[in-house]
Formats: sequence, structure tokens, C-alpha cells
Amino acid sequence: MKILIIGANGFTGRRILQDFSKNKEYKLYACSLHQDINPEDGYEFIQADICNENNLTELFNRTRPDIVINTSALSVPDYCETHHEEADLINTTAVAYLAIKCNKYNCRFIHLSTDFVFDGKSEHLYTEEDTPNPLNYYGKTKWEGEKRIINVCNDYAIVRVVVVYGKPLPGQHGNILQLVANRLRNGESINVVSDQWRTPTYVGDIANGIEKLMHHNKSGIYHICGGDNVSIADIAYRVAAHLQLDSALIKAVTTEEMQEITPRPRHSGLSIEKAIKEIGYQPLTLDEGIKETFSE
Ligand SMILES: NC(=O)c1ccc[n+]([C@@H]2O[C@H](COP(=O)([O-])OP(=O)(O)OC[C@H]3O[C@@H](n4cnc5c(N)ncnc54)[C@H](OP(=O)(O)O)[C@@H]3O)[C@@H](O)[C@H]2O)c1
Repeated sequence: MKILIIGANGFTGRRILQDFSKNKEYKLYACSLHQDINPEDGYEFIQADICNENNLTELFNRTRPDIVINTSALSVPDYCETHHEEADLINTTAVAYLAIKCNKYNCRFIHLSTDFVFDGKSEHLYTEEDTPNPLNYYGKTKWEGEKRIINVCNDYAIVRVVVVYGKPLPGQHGNILQLVANRLRNGESINVVSDQWRTPTYVGDIANGIEKLMHHNKSGIYHICGGDNVSIADIAYRVAAHLQLDSALIKAVTTEEMQEITPRPRHSGLSIEKAIKEIGYQPLTLDEGIKETFSE
């Protein structure tokens, strides 16, 4: 099976690449905008810009994949809020190009999306049936990307993930766990919001869920995240407890007090019932994921 992983220098893309490298039945192609951040055996690396249609044609001709996994994105909401054109290009236009190519080359398209497609006003965990209504520009571009796939692709899985965490490689952006751990280890205080709830996703669970979806013969949207619905402040307190750091340095503040420029949903936890039922998805608990992150 030939698998093309796009965004392979990114946090999630690299974890998928590393996990899949263990399976010798997979022929892996890793694509990213810049040079390979951590060259290893077990895959072929191709540097390409997926916003460039010619690059994409060359990429598909060279790899002829059975499965395309797109983890590339402009995934920082604050940056997207002030860089609309760039966000449109990567999160929507390039996704539409990929969807067309996947159809042309008869491959299954697995694309990562986000809980930020929702407005966070729901009183239940969002299901795949709920209608998106993004609050910020990042969420808008990601939802547009989803719609392009649904309109074009014959064989696809849209994988919505939430606050992805795990251990990053050198050169990769950290996540909430490292941010909290680093601040507390340095004896610095950290402000975290206590009125925004999420279902955080251990990065290894995404690789797992995607592998199951590769062999699933249905198209659709799948929520692949953790099963614990917690506030961002809760995450920080759990990290402090696990690492036995001073939790008094954690300042739980409201969204209003945080005065963020980019609006964010209050309750964007996602239900994983569909993934449990259809593909037997079984994520780590948040405490297990925190333990795994700091033990790796
Ligand atoms: N991280 C989260 O908490 C979170 C939460 C919800 C949803 N998501 C979604 O999950 C997915 C993965 O997120 P992530 O945080 O793992 O991503 P990430 O670390 O930001 O990685 C994205 C990668 O995409 C690559 N890329 C960007 N533009 C490209 C282009 N034009 N051509 C080829 N490659 C390009 C970059 O490669 P180079 O490094 O080579 O430039 C980058 O490493 C995204 O779809 C994101 O929207 C993430």
C-alpha cells in the first residue's frame, strides 16, 4: 500500500510517519514544504508546496499513492486571523486541489480538520451530524476545506482533532503540555482559560485512528480525539500534578480576562461515539496521554 503523508515535518504528520514506518507493508512518501527536519530510513521524502498545482501534479505522478493523508495546514488561529489570503490558500484552495487529484488518481483522501469549525455554543459534545458555524478565520478556512472535499471526493475521511498534544521533536512547535511544563519548571506563572472546554487529543491516537480509517470503506467525517472533556485550566493542573510542579503558578482566568484577539469557541468538545462504533477507535485517557508524553 502506497501512502503519501503531506505535512510530514509537522507535529501530527511526523508522528503518523514514525508510527507507520514500523509496518513494512506500507511504502511511505513524506511531503513537506521545507527540508526533512529529522531524516530517517523507512520513507522517501519529497519537498513540495501543495499550493502549487504543478508541484502537486509532479508529486502524484511520482508517488501514485493509494492513500493521501493531509496534515498540512496553517494551524495557528491568531496568525490566520491576520493573514487571510495565506490561510485561504493552504487550508482551502490547496485542499480543493488535493481532493481533485485524489479523485483523478483513485486514492482515498484522509484530511485533518478541527473542532474550531464549531461555535462552541452547544450543551453537548458535538457529533459529526452537527452543523459547523466557525467563530474565527482559521475555523472558516478549515470548514471551507471540508466542504470542497465533500463536494468533490468519492473516497474520503475528514478527521477532526482537538488540542493535539504529545512530545514534539526538536524544531517542531510545542503544545499546551510543554508550555505549561516549561513555565512551571522555570518558576514562571502562566495564565490559562478556565471557561473553554475541549477534548484534547494524544497525537499517537490520531495515527491509530487514521490507520483504522485507511482500511474503512466508508466516506465521511470522523471525530478522532480524546474522551475527556476538560477546560484548558484543567489540563494545566493535571500537568502540574503529574510532574509534581507548583500549581500555584497556574492562574486560571476567564476568556474575557484573557483578552485574546481571536474569538474561540467555549465548548468545542467532540463526541467520539461514531469512531468507537464504526472503527473500534479507543483513545488514551488524558491522564494516560500526559504520562505517555512525559515518559517518551
Ligand atoms: N495542533 C493542534 O492542536 C490542532 C488542533 C485541531 C486541529 N488541528 C489540525 O491538525 C492538522 C495537523 O496540525 P499540526 O499542529 O500537527 O500541524 P503543524 O505542526 O503546524 O504542521 C503543519 C505542516 O504543514 C506543512 N505545510 C504548510 N504549508 C505547506 C505547503 N504549502 N505545502 C506542503 N506542506 C506545507 C508545514 O511543513 P514545513 O514544516 O515543511 O513548512 C508544517 O510542518 C492540521 O490540519 C490542523 O488544522 C491541529
